[in-house]
Amino acid sequence: MEVLILPTREKADLLAARIIANYLRRKPHLVLGLATGRTMERLYHLLGDMHAKAGLDFSLCRTFNLDEYIGMPPESQYSYRYYMNHHLFSRINIDPRNTHLPNGMAYDLDAACTKYEDEMVECGGIDLQLLGIGSDGHIGFNEPLSALRSRTRQKALTPETITQNAALCGGEQNMPKRALTMGVGTILDAKRCLMLVTGETKAKILAQAVEGPITSMVTASALQLHPHCRIIVDEEAAEHLQGKDYYRWMFRSEPEWAEHHDLL
Ligand code: F6R
Repeated sequence: MEVLILPTREKADLLAARIIANYLRRKPHLVLGLATGRTMERLYHLLGDMHAKAGLDFSLCRTFNLDEYIGMPPESQYSYRYYMNHHLFSRINIDPRNTHLPNGMAYDLDAACTKYEDEMVECGGIDLQLLGIGSDGHIGFNEPLSALRSRTRQKALTPETITQNAALCGGEQNMPKRALTMGVGTILDAKRCLMLVTGETKAKILAQAVEGPITSMVTASALQLHPHCRIIVDEEAAEHLQGKDYYRWMFRSEPEWAEHHDLL
């Protein structure tokens, strides 16, 4: 695991966007795993700008989202399909047929989950999985006690997640209580993971995930098992990291990061 500390939220977002753009330039057929949430909105905005101003090409890219609410029609403004169309897909030159989200409207939800896993395998697996972290430590909607080897499946949301996401759903009355989500095991199968975490509200849970024990109570801690996982954070989110001096030193001294030192 590598933790990269950037001075501000804006610079953390920019580094994440640059890393994604570099992968895409090197591999135009990139299979990109996507997340939703407030953190990703800013990142998607930057990727949209990179497409508009620098011609970043998504025409061959395939995407798989981590999760989708159960019972939320894709045309609803609160669905993750709508979110992705609005924040990213409509702003870049991706072929909509290459974009995938779990089907939370399926009659047979378990079959839809199996199909989703099969589709990822058919595409050769996820090359790069983007992640945020929930305040209870979840990745995707892998709430506490999710098995660390879990696959795409139905998951009940915690009251904490429901309260937090209700604001984005126009209130708790619209907020689904269940979702389909890639499992922790599905996420760990991605060839590379890139997590973006900003803001002081995430500082304590981030420290638990990165430096605490690996536990299903904080599913993001499972990323410690991943051989290629990078976590980009701003100073506020880094507040409780014990190893932050080392992480800063690594960013300053590893040759790989030299081209991004303008962000320091
Ligand atoms: C949603 C997802 C979630 C979010 C997490 C953080 O697709 O993957 O794990 O990344 O809940 O959300 P924000 O960025 O809103 O704090």
